Amino acid sequence: MKRVDDFRLKLAGRELVPIMIGGMGVDISTAELALEAARLGGIGHISDAMVPDVSDRRFDTSFVKDKTRFYKHNIDNSDKSIIKFDLGVLAEATRRHVAATMQAKRGNGLIFVNCMEKLTMNAPRETLQVRMGSALDAGIDGITLSAGLHLGSFGLIADHPRFRDAQLGIIVSSVRALQLFLRKNARLDRLPDYVVVEGPLAGGHLGFGMDWAEHDLATIVTEILQYLRAERLDIPLIAAGGIFTGGDACRFLELGAAGVQVATRFTVTRECGLPEDVKQEYFRASEDDIEVNTISPTGYPMRMLKSTPAIGSGIRPNCEAYGYLLDGAGSCAYITAYNRELALHPDARTLSVRDKTCLCTHMRNFNCWTCGHMTYRLKDTSRLGADGRYALLSAEHVFRDYQFSTGSQIALPDTEAADSLAG
Ligand SMILES: Cc1cc2nc3c(=O)[nH]c(=O)nc-3n(C[C@H](O)[C@H](O)[C@H](O)COP(=O)(O)O)c2cc1C
Repeated sequence: MKRVDDFRLKLAGRELVPIMIGGMGVDISTAELALEAARLGGIGHISDAMVPDVSDRRFDTSFVKDKTRFYKHNIDNSDKSIIKFDLGVLAEATRRHVAATMQAKRGNGLIFVNCMEKLTMNAPRETLQVRMGSALDAGIDGITLSAGLHLGSFGLIADHPRFRDAQLGIIVSSVRALQLFLRKNARLDRLPDYVVVEGPLAGGHLGFGMDWAEHDLATIVTEILQYLRAERLDIPLIAAGGIFTGGDACRFLELGAAGVQVATRFTVTRECGLPEDVKQEYFRASEDDIEVNTISPTGYPMRMLKSTPAIGSGIRPNCEAYGYLLDGAGSCAYITAYNRELALHPDARTLSVRDKTCLCTHMRNFNCWTCGHMTYRLKDTSRLGADGRYALLSAEHVFRDYQFSTGSQIALPDTEAADSLAG
């Protein structure tokens, strides 16, 4: 029986273990997690979501405090459209985060940054251009564009000196999305170096409507492989979403995928940025505890635990500090929903907003527990301690389990390691 280690992903002139850990914002896929993937010969992602805030936590900068102070006069204003990001600050924060990560990199693997294009930041083109350009300046190995793929994004960095040497990839969920991107990109004479094909069981935002359950990853992967072959396009395909064991991964590699992107299994590792208590929520979840809903202001369905504190929360929009989802006209669906509830209940001490959530604030505070569909199986990957808590795993343990296990096998941490990893 084959195992993942029998395959290699050829990218950037290297032969890599074909395991990519997906980007998980905000700082859920930390630098530590990405560095482990690279050390072990695979690919890790850091996320570029809310990087000024990540920089404040990581390097003790005061970007968020400074921005909040600058826009303090607007806090009671229901209109947030004047809030703009300082592009110099954005560049500095990105460079710090990326440069520190790349300096710490060891091993033969690669580190990419996950750029979610739905972070429109009240100036979609300018801010995305700065985020991508500064990540390239700071030496990132590659950029994966996701969530809201803008067809012209490669063009924004076409003048960057690293435009042709850095790895550039896109995430799509249909052959149609890939065709559109390639058509639009043709004039740049620059194909993506890899295409992540994400199915409906992934965590985070989904590239499907609420009919997600009618789609399946194997079918989409097969369609895209056929399309790539018919067009004679030699672009490695990375399959993602619901790949839970080494055996699952092998099935996609045997189907013709060049690699797999995985995330959920790493949410319960020590290197993952989620707080320990949240990791325990993920471990304990049953299938019924997980839902796909439409509370994200991005307009994309998102999968999360039903117990997530972000659901129904009616906190005041916090765009003075954050504002990452302000569209090009300075609005966000949460602000609209919040203002509607405020008008309906002007005297309420606390508001509840059920249809949308303040995603920036809740993701920043780890109160939006987005997760993959397979989260309910995480309990099968660890040991339950006498204190009722599951032992956290090391990223190395999970990575190697994907790499070397066969069939539906899942390696449990040994008891001694589990004891020392718990808590
Ligand atoms: C907690 C969590 C957060 C995620 N955040 C992002 C994100 O910020 N950007 C993105 O492109 N994908 C995000 N994803 C999707 C993953 O990168 C990955 O493609 C997918 O979850 C793989 O499927 P799996 O989780 O079943 O292994 C997230 C997934 C999880 C579990």
